[in-house]
Amino acid sequence: MDALTSLRPADTAFRDDVLAGLAAPIPAVPARWLYDLRGSELFEEITRLPEYYPTRTETALLERHAGEIAALLGTGEAVVEFGSGSSTKTPILLRAVDPAAYVPIDISGDFLRESAETLQALFPGLPILPVEADFMRRIALPEAVAAMPKLGFVPGSTIGNLVARTAVDLLRAMKETLGEGSRLVIGMDRIKPVEILIAAYDDSAGITAAFNLNLLHRINVELGADIPIDAFRHRAIWNDEMSRIEMHLEAVRDVEFSVAGARFRFAEGATIHTENSHKYGHRDSRLMLRAAGWGVVREWTDEKEWFSIILAEAEPPRSAP
Ligand code: AVJ
Repeated sequence: MDALTSLRPADTAFRDDVLAGLAAPIPAVPARWLYDLRGSELFEEITRLPEYYPTRTETALLERHAGEIAALLGTGEAVVEFGSGSSTKTPILLRAVDPAAYVPIDISGDFLRESAETLQALFPGLPILPVEADFMRRIALPEAVAAMPKLGFVPGSTIGNLVARTAVDLLRAMKETLGEGSRLVIGMDRIKPVEILIAAYDDSAGITAAFNLNLLHRINVELGADIPIDAFRHRAIWNDEMSRIEMHLEAVRDVEFSVAGARFRFAEGATIHTENSHKYGHRDSRLMLRAAGWGVVREWTDEKEWFSIILAEAEPPRSAP
């Protein structure tokens, strides 16, 4: 292969999002672009940080309650995981539920195949049927699971990335993907003291900062940009009105750069909003699920009520009060 044939056109979706996002009145880039291979690796590191409570709290909850979850289900389930990444929580659920099939869904094909292989080694007899897709839309599940009852699995407070309107769209799309009578195990992060939240998203080892700043590196490499990365710093702020942690990249001085031929200027203190992580009160999560047609069966939380795992079921359409 010569140099020319190895050149692929830049991903236009990424370029379009970055160009539109940087030019917007409140500059922002959709959070999904944080998760390239390096970003996904850095996020894995984040999940092991002492300050990052969600992963260990949710893992402990699953370990404690997977048996109860399984007891509330029937047998022969197909477990469908949305945004499976390299989840270490999956084996806990699979061991308890003992499903007839496992369908991991992720947009990153590489990550998907890697984790499918790891899981297959742990569960040699389990049919694993990976689907590479964007789970924001309704997905056609493999034929092999069509007749099985479905259990959706959305750990990691993945839903927290989304504003309420999009979160409800996603929950509704999941209901359509899974079908009538299906159930859902979903992890949701709770509202808690601000110091704890800030520390979790601005850790002392600087891993979250590296994760956020990696976006600029990615823009430089993939979109032929010349952003001076040292002109930006990581910021994590609590937006109480919106009940969310926001990650921003803040210019530490006046800076100018170009991306794919377009010029941008950021004054010192101006920010690029890169991610939201919504936190929910007890009733918030229920309301959001209900808005998308899911009724809560049970909720499990830890002693400090820092994280919740919710078992929900698809409610049949009904117009009466
Ligand atoms: C992957 C969206 C669940 O919001 O806690 C962690 C992402 N970003 N630290 C979260 C994240 C910075 C994470 N989610």
